[in-house]
Amino acid sequence: MLNASAYAEDARESPRLARQPHAKRNTKQSRSRSRTKTRSQKLYDKQLTALIMILLIAAGVTLYSAYIVFCATQRHHQPHLPTVEDTEAGQAVGPSLTSAVPITATQLSWPDQLQGYIAYLPHSGYHNQRIALENALVLARVLNRTLLLPPVRLGIPLTYVPFDELYEAFANSTKTGLEYCSQTVSYQADLPPECDDYMDYTHVSWDTLVDLPSIRAEQPILDGWNFTDAWLHDVLDISAASGDVFYLKDTTRNQYAFQDFSAPDPTARKFSESIHLAMLARRPERLIQLGTLFGSARLHLRVEANLLLRKHIRERMAFTHPYLVHAASAIRTALGGAYLGAHLRVADKVFEWSAPVNVRHAWWKLMHGVLGFTDDEILDMEEEFFPDEDALEPPVIEVDIPAMRSPHPPLPPLPADASPASGLSCRGSLHLAPALQKLNAPLFIATDARHPSLSPLLWRFIRTFPCSFFLDDFPEPTRSLGALRSEADGVPLGRFLMPFVDAMVVGQAWQVVGTEQSTFSTFVTDVLWRTYHGFEIVQRGSR
Ligand SMILES: *[C@@H]1O[C@H](CO)[C@@H](O)[C@H](O)[C@H]1NC(C)=O
Ligand SMILES: *[C@@H]1O[C@H](CO)[C@@H](O)[C@H](O)[C@H]1NC(C)=O
Ligand SMILES: *[C@@H]1O[C@H](CO)[C@@H](O)[C@H](O)[C@H]1NC(C)=O
Repeated sequence: MLNASAYAEDARESPRLARQPHAKRNTKQSRSRSRTKTRSQKLYDKQLTALIMILLIAAGVTLYSAYIVFCATQRHHQPHLPTVEDTEAGQAVGPSLTSAVPITATQLSWPDQLQGYIAYLPHSGYHNQRIALENALVLARVLNRTLLLPPVRLGIPLTYVPFDELYEAFANSTKTGLEYCSQTVSYQADLPPECDDYMDYTHVSWDTLVDLPSIRAEQPILDGWNFTDAWLHDVLDISAASGDVFYLKDTTRNQYAFQDFSAPDPTARKFSESIHLAMLARRPERLIQLGTLFGSARLHLRVEANLLLRKHIRERMAFTHPYLVHAASAIRTALGGAYLGAHLRVADKVFEWSAPVNVRHAWWKLMHGVLGFTDDEILDMEEEFFPDEDALEPPVIEVDIPAMRSPHPPLPPLPADASPASGLSCRGSLHLAPALQKLNAPLFIATDARHPSLSPLLWRFIRTFPCSFFLDDFPEPTRSLGALRSEADGVPLGRFLMPFVDAMVVGQAWQVVGTEQSTFSTFVTDVLWRTYHGFEIVQRGSR
């Protein structure tokens, strides 16, 4: 379910979600309550006691009817998702996500020195694009330039190729002039060849997925760039031919790193050249055009303010789309609120062939690091639960130093009676031995395995945790996503967004373990889980 690449949740909302199992419901009621209170307070000041009485009665009636309406909605459909009914009528007109925010005059209100621009070329899956975006926002802010922001590409990614080819591939991926494909494709008639990959990917605005609006309030960002010189000329009056653009064209993906200090960087790490930000800051050209910015280590920062800035930007990357937030929250409630989490990537490229090792590693982390079983106890369980497997040594679990640099307060213990809400039954029979009671707690497994409940790879978890659940077990809360379409090209978004819901549910677990080497898992444990629990995020990347 995670394979595509996109996701969402509200950073500011999350700590509250974490503390209150029924946050959604409570929030709605407490909001109306406080509104009522403010109003009656004013009247009280004016001594209009009679009016207070009337108002209180009216408010009571309003609250009561709101409650009735709420209960009714609750029973029938997704709470708070009133437009979704359309889907069932087969109309699927549903709400759409905007692809790009139109160019507005807001940037004119930024100071003059911000009239310089900076651009970059994103590529690869969602999380790689997200990391590049974080880096681009930091660079733009440090250099006092306006960022030309491309939308997120969801679905089949553009893979990295050297600068010139990537630039061209982008201009070629806008689907301009192919609008008729969205009609053709839905009839499955003879597809004109140019429509072949029309449904395989789409573009949506970052603003619909993450908290970019709050970043826009702090730095100038310009949307709409279509990766052509024509656009730069028509919209910004920048001429690539006459020296208005400083290009830093990469020929390999690990060519340029950026540093904010002048000492040579002997550890130059995996990048072949390092650029000093002070040097970029002096470029007179109106536009600085960079290539790839993917990589948590690409910005080598030592200036405290820059490190803080990056953290601040990364914190806004939790998913905020309301449909995603509602779906994840409904599933969390169904799971009983207190549950364990595992984010397991097993189906894609490098993850596929290292899956057996990765899955055992994650399982050990959960059993040992999270649940506190000793090595001997776990080895005994391996022998008992998986008699057919070869006996192996315990895996080496490295200490996570970046995570230790951002310690969080101790977690309250996982409730001994943690169990799914009524109506959700466990797939296996519960362990009876008192020593194994902890394994009866609900476990949510977010995974890209195609049929997770049948996957031999995941058997290890399913055998150990009788109350294991997957996103597939909750068709109802995610139904509303089926109606979403990209406004840019009419491509349905549901399948691109499911991995994000998966991540959001697992990120709200009491504790979560991830997959080695996965940028997606790292995002879940470093950003989502921490944000939802109200803890400081983990900064990886260099300092
Ligand atoms: C960016 O602007 C701030 C405030 O105007 C200024 O202090 C800083 O030196 C500028 N930085 C660069 C790289 O021009
Ligand atoms: C642009 O797209 C078309 C159709 O998808 C493809 O045939 C062509 O090779 C692409 N050109 C470049 C430069 O990527
Ligand atoms: C890009 O934008 C320019 C200027 O608005 C426009 O002339 C051009 O047709 C666009 N190109 C594509 C491929 O969308």
